[in-house]
Amino acid sequence: MSLQDAILKLARDAVVKFVRKDQVIGLGSGSTAAYIVREMASLDFKNTLECVPTSLQIKVEAEKGGLRFADESMVPDIDVVFDGADQIDAGFNMIKGGGGALMREKILISAAKKVVIAADEGKFVKSFSRSVPIEVHPMARTAAAGKLQKAGGRPTMRTLDKGYPFITENGNVILDTTFASISDPHRTEMELKSIAGVVEVGIFTRRADAYYKAKADGTFEVIY
Ligand code: 5RP
Repeated sequence: MSLQDAILKLARDAVVKFVRKDQVIGLGSGSTAAYIVREMASLDFKNTLECVPTSLQIKVEAEKGGLRFADESMVPDIDVVFDGADQIDAGFNMIKGGGGALMREKILISAAKKVVIAADEGKFVKSFSRSVPIEVHPMARTAAAGKLQKAGGRPTMRTLDKGYPFITENGNVILDTTFASISDPHRTEMELKSIAGVVEVGIFTRRADAYYKAKADGTFEVIY
């Protein structure tokens, strides 16, 4: 039994518990969200669902599974959004954006009636211990990096192999920014969001309706 078995099982459980006929479903991005999409694709009522994807990665996964898509005007009607996370602290705040889809993920997570998060146990931590992805307009990258430093951060522009900048689906760059500590995630989220040129901050403070924790022994736990 492995972590992958646990994710497979939790995906099944999450879909059975949270997806109903005729719903509008938000699709987060990443490998864990992809397991949930594959599970949704096996529902006999999948043709009644309308999905709003947060990235091309998850859209392609949903296309492979024959899921239907809703127009973006349906965002306020999303019944449930399924997503992964990069870190979840003891207060259930999250760091997201490891895949660069943070802007659309934040839009869906703030709009959806229900939020369901799934992550492996290693991502549940007492307090944040990794960098915060911050999406910035390319024109603002130097100015915003300076302001992030003044706010106590150490920003590094995300790059691909060979040093090319990673460009988000919105045409922006990501400054992965390390902080010594984040004692008040909501305050930090708001402070960073107010920097000119910052499009979105990878600190997510909305409490989800359920957190699925996948364990290395092949089991999972649900925290409501
Ligand atoms: C993408 C995200 C993902 O949800 C996060 O990176 C987790 O991905 P994975 O399930 O592949 O570990 O925030 O922007």
